[in-house]
Amino acid sequence: VSGRDHAQVAYDALAPFYDAFTRGHDYTRFADLLEGAALDAGLDGRRLLDVACGTGKSFEPFLARGYDVTACDVSAAMLAEAVVRADGRVRLERHDMRELPALGRFDLVTVVDDAVNYLGEDELAALFGGVRANLAPGGVLVFDANTLATFRRLYSSLLVVPDSDRVVVYEGLGEPDLPAGGLARARFDLLERGADGWWTRTRSMHRHRHHPEAAVRAALEGAGMECVAVRGLHMDGTLDDEHDDLRHSKAVYTARASAPQGGERG
Ligand SMILES: C[S@@+](CC[C@H](N)C(=O)[O-])C[C@H]1O[C@@H](n2cnc3c(N)ncnc32)[C@H](O)[C@@H]1O
Repeated sequence: VSGRDHAQVAYDALAPFYDAFTRGHDYTRFADLLEGAALDAGLDGRRLLDVACGTGKSFEPFLARGYDVTACDVSAAMLAEAVVRADGRVRLERHDMRELPALGRFDLVTVVDDAVNYLGEDELAALFGGVRANLAPGGVLVFDANTLATFRRLYSSLLVVPDSDRVVVYEGLGEPDLPAGGLARARFDLLERGADGWWTRTRSMHRHRHHPEAAVRAALEGAGMECVAVRGLHMDGTLDDEHDDLRHSKAVYTARASAPQGGERG
């Protein structure tokens, strides 16, 4: 892993608060949707690589379904939480998703919960190229990206997730009329009450890039991947077969390696 980039710094600070911040998220339901999308794209097998796995909430439901899980993330502090959750059942490694090494042959690769929004447009192809090299023949990639609707609403909102000794205050610093492909920042204030009763505050700054569908498709194609489907996820967890960037909260992509051309074998 080269140099500490902003996502690594941001998540090393956020790690102890991440599970509390996301406690309202239904990862089991989300995994159902992702697995369903992958099955539709031809998933056949249970070797999973979960890229940008964070504290392991995204791979946990797959473990429960009998998947053989390998997972990686760039943040050592997020991985430390994932180690506890994995309890010896997962191969965990620290990697930057823009420089994924060959970790094996996987039937399914997931990049879940807007991790791709930490990448610049020109970095998507590096991720997809690394994923392609880790896919077994017929393997499927599933990932989600925040829509323009989410960028315009969530990234200009304030969210407070309180707990007795830990409070997360999220403030979107984006624009309600952000253009497609735009960049938005968000600030997390992580408040913690110490044993002496005094509160400390740690800040975690996040920078997210909106990826229009055309840019994602082009990056997939450039990396030798074929986009199989783009579905639209609503805030209430329902998934539509079509994606509308101004109506859905997330776009859910499925992709696989393109068929070799001109008699080439791969
Ligand atoms: C919103 S969290 C999602 C974590 C997990 N997949 C989940 O669903 O809870 C985004 C994750 O992306 C990771 N991340 C961001 N940039 C990364 C990079 N360049 N390489 C690897 N991981 C990265 C962060 O460290 C963080 O754990």
